[in-house]
Amino acid sequence: MRKLLIATHNLGKLEEMQGYLKELSFEVVSMDDTDIPKEWRVEEVGQTFEGNALIKAIITGKKSGMLTIADDSGVSIDALNGEPGVKSARYAKGTDKQRYEVVLEKMKDVPDEKRTAKFTSVIAVYDPMSDQVTVTYGECLGRITREPKGERGFGYDPIFFADEIGKTYAEATLEEKMRIDHRGRAMQKMYEILKRFP
Ligand code: IMP
Repeated sequence: MRKLLIATHNLGKLEEMQGYLKELSFEVVSMDDTDIPKEWRVEEVGQTFEGNALIKAIITGKKSGMLTIADDSGVSIDALNGEPGVKSARYAKGTDKQRYEVVLEKMKDVPDEKRTAKFTSVIAVYDPMSDQVTVTYGECLGRITREPKGERGFGYDPIFFADEIGKTYAEATLEEKMRIDHRGRAMQKMYEILKRFP
């Protein structure tokens, strides 16, 4: 069975992506299952989600020699001129909670109707055998809450109210979130592409 490497060190992302790929006829492996050193990281020098997804998939795929998929994602908030965007993972020092608290603080005077935001995911798959790369996209619209709600998930989940389900990502079950969220949408398209892979 051919191996498919998920190029992420983010356990939240890993769990979501593994959920989607388990039906496929690949042996899905994580970075921990490779002999790539734990501290090895791809520097995200891209200015866009697409650029960073491509960089991560291609560099990790070349390093591992495996078919590799990578996601680059983040939340773009209208009232913050699209920030944190591609900088979502490193918007402020510290934990996920500290980062979303910075967002809530910056938005404390923003009225409800101006709290709109969008999560984006770009997923790239790189095949070192053919040297080909393909990308898929997913988005989810919502708004930033005034306080955190829900216990599940990771990152900005507690402060992102997803319009389609009428609750925050952190209040949704994993299945509910994956059905409507940005990564789930990009993964549904990636699933169709991987199904046809040699
Ligand atoms: P990167 O794609 O590794 O640069 O990191 C994306 C960052 O965006 C994560 O570290 C989270 O902070 C945030 N993010 C991406 N997807 C989600 C999600 O589904 N829920 C909450 N935060 C997310």
